[in-house]
Amino acid sequence: MDALTLLTQRHSAPRLSEPGPDSQQLDTILAAAVKAPDHMALTPWQFVIAQGEGLLKLGEIFYQAAKTKGESGEGLARARLLPTRAPMVITVIAKVQDHPKVPVIEQHLSAGCAALAMQMAAQAQGLGGIWRTGSYAFDPTVRESLGVQGDDQIVGFLYLGTPLSRAPNKRSPDPADYVSFL
Ligand SMILES: Cc1cc2nc3c(=O)[nH]c(=O)nc-3n(C[C@H](O)[C@H](O)[C@H](O)COP(=O)(O)O)c2cc1C
Repeated sequence: MDALTLLTQRHSAPRLSEPGPDSQQLDTILAAAVKAPDHMALTPWQFVIAQGEGLLKLGEIFYQAAKTKGESGEGLARARLLPTRAPMVITVIAKVQDHPKVPVIEQHLSAGCAALAMQMAAQAQGLGGIWRTGSYAFDPTVRESLGVQGDDQIVGFLYLGTPLSRAPNKRSPDPADYVSFL
């Protein structure tokens, strides 16, 4: 797949199954992540990879978060299963440093770029993925369990695997609607 096709045809894959990325594919995905634009080369990111047992551990973290929030019944049971919707979930964390020239938002954006780069690297290798946040990205219990402190932010949970359905035939927004010229 050439670069422009990937950029203009990128899409999410919400329904994913095995196989997930193998170790070579994962290396490529991570190599793409660390090429994200990065003001002052702060490398303001951390990638927490969950597969196999790791998905159960992440599910346990979501479960504890849901319990702490007072959820019960189906909602609580569902929390534990969320990460098992894909063979691999990469939690993308913006690790923020106090820097005179690089405000927090730029470091968050950089980590976001890394998340997108990983999704595209997955798609370029015949895999699929979806970038999710949901309330757990902002949840104090989840943050604490993953060592996310202060201005650090979970910018996404990147679900990766083999798409279960073909790319949706969605209409793209018209770029002209969002463009002006000075
Ligand atoms: C920061 C961020 C958080 C997102 N969180 C969710 C989410 O929690 N659940 C979800 O279904 N989609 C979420 N999305 C949207 C999907 O990743 C995806 O972009 C959307 O379903 C549109 O599909 P497309 O990427 O194929 O255009 C999020 C996107 C971004 C950029």
